[in-house]
Amino acid sequence: MAESLLEVKDLVKYYPLTQGVLFRKQVGAVKAVDGVSFRLRAGETLGIVGESGCGKSTVARMLVNLERPTAGSITYKGEDISRLSGRALKAVRRNIQMVFQDPYTSLNPRMTVGDIIGEPYEIHPEVAPKGDRRRRVQELLDVVGLNPEYINRYPHQFSGGQRQRIGIARGLALQPEIIVADEPVSALDVSVQAQVVNLLEKLQDEFGLSYVFIAHDLSIVRHISDRVGVMYLGRIVEIGTDAEIYEHPTHPYTQALLSAVPVPDPQARAHRERIILSGDVPSPAAPPSGCRFRTRCWKAQERCTTEVPLLAVPEVFTSGPAAHPSACHFAAEKRVVPHMPPQEGGRPVGKDTD
Ligand SMILES: Nc1ncnc2c1ncn2[C@@H]1O[C@H](COP(=O)(O)OP(=O)(O)OP(=O)(O)O)[C@@H](O)[C@H]1O
Ligand code: SF4
Ligand SMILES: [Mg+2]
Repeated sequence: MAESLLEVKDLVKYYPLTQGVLFRKQVGAVKAVDGVSFRLRAGETLGIVGESGCGKSTVARMLVNLERPTAGSITYKGEDISRLSGRALKAVRRNIQMVFQDPYTSLNPRMTVGDIIGEPYEIHPEVAPKGDRRRRVQELLDVVGLNPEYINRYPHQFSGGQRQRIGIARGLALQPEIIVADEPVSALDVSVQAQVVNLLEKLQDEFGLSYVFIAHDLSIVRHISDRVGVMYLGRIVEIGTDAEIYEHPTHPYTQALLSAVPVPDPQARAHRERIILSGDVPSPAAPPSGCRFRTRCWKAQERCTTEVPLLAVPEVFTSGPAAHPSACHFAAEKRVVPHMPPQEGGRPVGKDTD
């Protein structure tokens, strides 16, 4: 495997909780991200999954420098980019671009598609001189499967899937190396989701891109990812290759999430054990002591209350697919999804027709 392009270490983001109108006083903090570490290798896709509010978008925003971490580092090609400013920050930003979740709100309705896609060139004119921009934008439209003649149209003249293609074209304008895609297909109809995922895969091959792909839909993540990290309440609880996570999960939370994934084959579905979690996700302003998952974990014991489980390969597994990092004191393999080749396990992958 190629070496790391991006290395995230002990990333933390706390949002202050304040009280009072005139004299605002900090009374606590929302611990949105609380010690996240992972690597992204050149050309790979790292999927990040987890329930709503677990901190996925906060990680994404820090990766593209829309927000500064409270602590921790983001190393890109050997340099910590989380504290950069000015020209150095601008140069790095060019290489790490974001595709947003909602193609309805992320595109300015008063701008033409040409202006939307070409806007990044205003900040980075060195990538495309003024006289060449229109041609570049038309090329980008073609690359994402849209008619280059649509350059003067407005976002409302496109379908949801087409708007997301526009968002992707904009993300590609500066020829980045890394794309952070935050739930890029969640707002789209199921029938269109596969087309956009296919497009992202095609672009990855064509331009050698690396992706951080965020979603709460485990089927979609499996389809596109080489490795997958599972988040719970601001932390990664398990990380590994897609086969390790989907077929040999060792963390109870991953097992519970997987047990809820739709299984297309009725026979396999009948043999699948559904794990229903009790209780709600605790507030990130007051996470439980020890293991954050303990208030919902059916395996929790005394030790889980006092000792934070580290994300590391559990000692009980010395080799094989279960030997991947899992933050559980009592990690144990449990297959919850019947074995299926990834193509069939994910959503059906249709032709690009939208
Ligand atoms: N600017 C902010 N100020 C205060 N709290 C915030 C802010 N942004 C996010 N949070 C909180 O941080 C936590 C993580 O939010 P985040 O948006 O990263 O979650 P997520 O995993 O992306 O969720 P979803 O799946 O719903 O998109 C949530 O509790 C959220 O309310
Ligand atoms: S450490 Fe304890 S509470 Fe946490 S997942 Fe493992 S068994 Fe459950
Ligand atoms: Mg989010």
